[in-house]
Amino acid sequence: MALATFTKPLLTDLLSETCDSVQASYVQPVWDRPNLVDVEVFNDSIPLIDLHGLLGSDRSKVAMDIGLACQNDGIFQVKNHGIPKRVIEDMLQVSRDFFGLPESERMRCYSDDFMKTTRLSTSFNVKTEKVSSWRDYLRLHCYPLEDFVHEWPSNPFNFREVVSEYCTKVRELALRIMEAISESLGLEREYLNKALGSHGQHMAINYYPPCPQPELTYGLPAHKDPNVITLLLQDGVSGLQVLRNDKWVAVDPDPNALVINIGDQIQVLSNGRYKSVLHRAIVNSNSHRISIPTFYCPSPDAVIKPPCSLTDDVHPAVYRSYSYSEYYEEFWNRGLNSESCLDNFRILK
Ligand code: OGA
Ligand code: NI
Repeated sequence: MALATFTKPLLTDLLSETCDSVQASYVQPVWDRPNLVDVEVFNDSIPLIDLHGLLGSDRSKVAMDIGLACQNDGIFQVKNHGIPKRVIEDMLQVSRDFFGLPESERMRCYSDDFMKTTRLSTSFNVKTEKVSSWRDYLRLHCYPLEDFVHEWPSNPFNFREVVSEYCTKVRELALRIMEAISESLGLEREYLNKALGSHGQHMAINYYPPCPQPELTYGLPAHKDPNVITLLLQDGVSGLQVLRNDKWVAVDPDPNALVINIGDQIQVLSNGRYKSVLHRAIVNSNSHRISIPTFYCPSPDAVIKPPCSLTDDVHPAVYRSYSYSEYYEEFWNRGLNSESCLDNFRILK
């Protein structure tokens, strides 16, 4: 049976009756479908960086490896990242528990206003998009924690406690990685830290239900993340793919690693040396999937521009300076699109 009704805003609830085909609003045009047979598995070639090395005499070598990954791949995995296994398992479990709550309980957080700092929604931006994506998501702002935690769901009973702990640990990791990225660009260790104003940290809990026709739709279509770096936790189910040498390659989950991808702000702050990577999420017919990206960001008022040391006559600034709030609004309003939102801020044509 096809999905019969639009009365339920969340995909999870639309699907409560069995269905064997996806509704027309989720079907991508023929020229923009995932082409699942033509995908390679990336894990062997994606850099896996052991962050333990940042602590000792190998620091500059590890920072250089991170820099090379930012330059060549735009994505890497990290192990020995310092987030305890228990914190990760609790975060995944409380996410499953949240999406398992009755609809009426979940819907208390529903909003399609992307400026809201805590909200449950579906697809990407239901107000502007033409084709829907096979995803529900809970988005939370999480830094400074004390400004937002009271807005978060209080059901499951342990949600705030578990998510706060995870966010605090992920932030420490983000800061360590940004220090290494700064060093790899020949900048002082605190450069990126200082360039982000008073900082921001957002998180999504993405819930992708099983899909009867995964070849017709996306969990998330191809996009680049608008923030600085994204730190992605995945449950055991595959779905993330990145574009590499014009081919889509799968980044299958490794239980001991987190995936780090470079966002648009590093591309601007490195004056184009490091590239924000095009990626997408596909769905599958067997199981649901949870992924939890942390989007580490500048504060809305931070003015983003490359450091003087990375611009000269041969390498003039590639992008004009702007405030992060200007960029962020542009990102949500234009919709996910393989052309980066960055193009709107480019000086050099
Ligand atoms: C995102 C994203 C990938 C995934 O939320 O921006 O790219 O695997 N998610 O869910
Ligand atoms: Ni993304």
